[in-house]
Amino acid sequence: MTARRALLALVVTLGVAGCAALRERFPGPDILFVATPEAVSLEMLKVAAVTPQDVVFDLGSGDGRVVIAAARDFGARGVGVEIDPKLVNVSRDAALAAGVGSRVTFLWQDLFVTDLTGATVVTLYLRDDVNLRLRPKLLRELAPGTRVVSHDFDMGDWEPDRVQSVRSREREHRLYFWVIPARAAGMWQSRVGEGEAASLTLTQEFQKLGGTLGAQRITGRLRGERVEITAGALTLRGMAHGDRIEGEASAAGGAPQRWTAHRAQH
Ligand SMILES: C[S@@+](CC[C@H](N)C(=O)[O-])C[C@H]1O[C@@H](n2cnc3c(N)ncnc32)[C@H](O)[C@@H]1O
Repeated sequence: MTARRALLALVVTLGVAGCAALRERFPGPDILFVATPEAVSLEMLKVAAVTPQDVVFDLGSGDGRVVIAAARDFGARGVGVEIDPKLVNVSRDAALAAGVGSRVTFLWQDLFVTDLTGATVVTLYLRDDVNLRLRPKLLRELAPGTRVVSHDFDMGDWEPDRVQSVRSREREHRLYFWVIPARAAGMWQSRVGEGEAASLTLTQEFQKLGGTLGAQRITGRLRGERVEITAGALTLRGMAHGDRIEGEASAAGGAPQRWTAHRAQH
């Protein structure tokens, strides 16, 4: 190789490495900006039952409309995360114009690195493959009970807790709603009233529960920390906090009894 060729190869190699490093720090958008119609944004926030106690994160926040509506129309606080700096500036100006500048924050950031601590509601208008890449982060970082609403795109085999259609002037939109489930899988000791402890084995796939109570097969469901299990004629309902569940057991015709369970093994 001549010295000139070697120099050219070095320049190309450094250029490619430089671009890769730049892309890592400032990745391009995973999807381009298309705005959710205002009426559909409002419906997303209604589906999530947003209140003034909520902190709404819109991941890929575009011109900021969902976050601004959450603050202006529902009294919530909001965080918009957007990779396009021009849209971040547009959002900040729009928030000031709407009089909610002190209740919302817009971050110029890749949504895949955003710290989701504190979010109680997450809104998305991305794409199905982007949702799927984001799914593990949502399940890992969001507290049980956090509500997630996605405009038009689902989360693959994580079934929504609710699906709602809403019409805009142009078309029909689908809103998918999930509640982040508590982690309930493991071996539990379950006790109904003053009865003997029985072993409860729970398997979990997203919000769906399976397993056994003693020899009886069970089915169940989680909605955030709320657990409901059916074991034959017995229904167990309770709240899961870490390794404890407290609630009530009821069987057809009988008075409800106290139900407790503690996890012996994950
Ligand atoms: C379809 S728009 C939705 C905008 C807004 N959420 C709405 O519903 O009107 C998606 C937005 O996500 C932004 N985006 C795409 N990839 C992103 C990423 N990795 N991190 C942050 N924002 C991203 C795009 O720039 C675009 O503004």
